[in-house]
Amino acid sequence: MATTIRSARVPGPRAPLGWRGQALAFLRDPIAFMALLRRQYGELASVQEGYQWWMFAFGPAYNQQVLSDAALFHSVAIAPLTTPPNSALARLTRNLLSMNGDTHKQQRRLMLPAFHRKRVEGYRDAIVALAEHELDTWQVGQQLDIARAMQRLTLRIASRTLFGVDAAGDADSVGRLIDSWMATLESGGVLLLPRDLPATPFRKLLRLSDQLEARVQAVIARKRASPAGQPDVLSMLIEARDDDGVALTDEELIGQASLVFIAGHETSSNALTWTLFLLSQHPRILAELCDELAGVLRGGAPTVEQLARLPLLDRVLKESMRLLPPASFMMRYTTRPAQLGPHTLPAGATVTVSPYITHHSPALYPDPQRFDPARWERIAPGTYEYMPFGAGPHMCLGSTFATIEIKIVLALLLQRYRLELAPGARIDRRVKITMSPRWGMPMHVLPQGSLPRPVRVRGNVRQMVELG
Ligand code: HEM
Repeated sequence: MATTIRSARVPGPRAPLGWRGQALAFLRDPIAFMALLRRQYGELASVQEGYQWWMFAFGPAYNQQVLSDAALFHSVAIAPLTTPPNSALARLTRNLLSMNGDTHKQQRRLMLPAFHRKRVEGYRDAIVALAEHELDTWQVGQQLDIARAMQRLTLRIASRTLFGVDAAGDADSVGRLIDSWMATLESGGVLLLPRDLPATPFRKLLRLSDQLEARVQAVIARKRASPAGQPDVLSMLIEARDDDGVALTDEELIGQASLVFIAGHETSSNALTWTLFLLSQHPRILAELCDELAGVLRGGAPTVEQLARLPLLDRVLKESMRLLPPASFMMRYTTRPAQLGPHTLPAGATVTVSPYITHHSPALYPDPQRFDPARWERIAPGTYEYMPFGAGPHMCLGSTFATIEIKIVLALLLQRYRLELAPGARIDRRVKITMSPRWGMPMHVLPQGSLPRPVRVRGNVRQMVELG
């Protein structure tokens, strides 16, 4: 239970429905909620009720304070508070993001080697093969939901490189299981009524967790039975030992492997989808990028060395993840009373920081809603000013993996096809743990060499990006 500390009331919304009403508004659309708070109350705002404190801290200085001090601002488990301790749900959600202090350090150290650049570069051939395979199934003239296609592709890449699982059918069914598990975990029903009662979303979540854990366990068992030294991340995690020779237990493997798998495909697929959307709306930039790709790659698949010689591709991706960061906010909670600006927070207060709000600050990024990859020739933002992969001790372990994966997929795709948004498409955001297009991303596949028309877009994506 949180200790109440008397301090000046932090500015913030007070609604008739109180804390729960605000929480619902946040869940419905975190970006609209945070943007409103930033506009109305400035860098610090809170939703308060009795001993419930929920702070929103915006801007690089607060990002640094909150994200770098992991002893004071703990990373929050994504599991509901009432999760039964010996359940599959508890084991699946016991991972780096829900660990703090020495345990986090020890487990992260064990996992780091599997994500080193040299290791990750070894996945280049697999990524190329799987991307080519996906693109082979596309046809010029066809309309595709690009969000779905990217999800399918990144799921297969994750299955192959992270788990060493090859069968597309098997990966797809685990993927579907993970998707419904995530959707249930993030649903308002679980957050508002986290009780194991008949017909509740929480009970459904517990059942799905049992199924998912069984699948992950089966993959681990298969790995343990196969020869050592395989190149996938799970095999490396199984074989990892710390300085004292300690390995990850099966229970730890279940939590960490599930996180890597979940974190490792939805985020990348959203980054790809949003980047393709932005390029379809900016034909001039698309044309320049295609020229760069043709000049360096001459129609071939990029080697890791060639990726370093594609500066516009790098700027396009940076700018896309600035404007539409797949992870738009992060949560922490205070372990003891904490000073944030002029306010003293009690222990147990929740604090939210936001890459999205930071990336849209006009003080850091002039004309922030504009998709302008060229700005990266002039700016070099600091760690807490640009943080699509987070910052501090919990910073993304897979950032090198994701960057290489996304660049390879974009380079291959844009050398074969152009994508044009379907006329009349409505692009609204759906923000849960990651931000995706709520109704998908319907696009027409055009032949390489044609220039897509920037079709007029409807939907709240227009609040986030300046479009014609
Ligand atoms: C564009 C793609 C990605 C984005 C935008 C992204 C973003 C993030 C962010 C913002 C965090 C920090 C969360 C926090 O501080 O609360 C994070 C953590 C993490 N990410 Fe990623 N991620 C991406 C891809 C990946 C991939 C491909 C993997 C694995 C292969 C991965 C594995 C992880 C892990 C294990 C953590 C937890 C680190 C820790 O707690 O120590 N991510 N990611």
